[in-house]
Amino acid sequence: MTLGVIAAGGRGTRMAPATSWVNKHLLPIGNGRLMIDCPLDTLRGMSFDQATIVTGCEHAGQVSEYVQDGHDWGFSRVNYEIQPKPAGIGDVVSRVSHLVGDGGMFLILGDNYFSVAPCLDLDVNMAMVWEYDVGSTEKAKAFGQINRDRFGQPCSIVEKPFMPEHSRIVVGAYFFPKDVVSRVHDLTPSARNELEITSLIEMYLMERRVVVMPVEGVWADLGEWDSLQKFIIDCARGENDGSGSSARGASSRI
Ligand code: DAU
Repeated sequence: MTLGVIAAGGRGTRMAPATSWVNKHLLPIGNGRLMIDCPLDTLRGMSFDQATIVTGCEHAGQVSEYVQDGHDWGFSRVNYEIQPKPAGIGDVVSRVSHLVGDGGMFLILGDNYFSVAPCLDLDVNMAMVWEYDVGSTEKAKAFGQINRDRFGQPCSIVEKPFMPEHSRIVVGAYFFPKDVVSRVHDLTPSARNELEITSLIEMYLMERRVVVMPVEGVWADLGEWDSLQKFIIDCARGENDGSGSSARGASSRI
């Protein structure tokens, strides 16, 4: 069985002062919904029956009070793990590594919205990431980016590229095979003192074990005021209904 994980830690400093009082993932996103509804809907859309939410110590109780056992989203159970410090998304993976079984793990970032849930029906020995075209290389600077060799094969990944090579970015959804359990312990802190998710992906890229798929439908990172505001306006205009991910990505593996 594949472990389904939501990363809902971090400090949310880009959304201060609101996040001084409220966990970022509980901010309203319009249509009477909160940010964390998005990854919860996505996991359910992929047929996960259980979810594990990783939160920081600050405001951790708020998230579990809101989500509880996940019944309202259709889960049979939701588990919680604490990340004592926001030490990076790679650190989130290490916090849940003891729960990973033969089916590996699917991780979704708590501030990512997908109108169509990613599909996992591929080789369990390959890592998977999804790309989305943000329309300009300027916008791509805020994200992770996969680069390809002259044969078009994915060969490297750069976090927040200074000079992006194209406008496609890696979104906050990742599948890792079961050997992620040992790989994650080889991660070392980056210059910004985080265990980077991109460094973990890099390990699989070096072994040519990464499948890169395009995101279907609309994707948004709601973790900044500008993108959140655009999302809310698009929903209000009916350009994006903002409701949860459809079940398109349901997987037989889960
Ligand atoms: O949204 C896609 C981008 O997400 C990717 O393109 C990047 O490669 C990836 O690093 C990430 O970049 P961000 O700058 O958006 O990451 P951020 O620090 O905003 O964290 C994203 C989510 O992960 C957020 O909902 C909180 C959670 N998180 C983050 C950190 C650093 C944790 O749960 N624990 C952490 O320690």
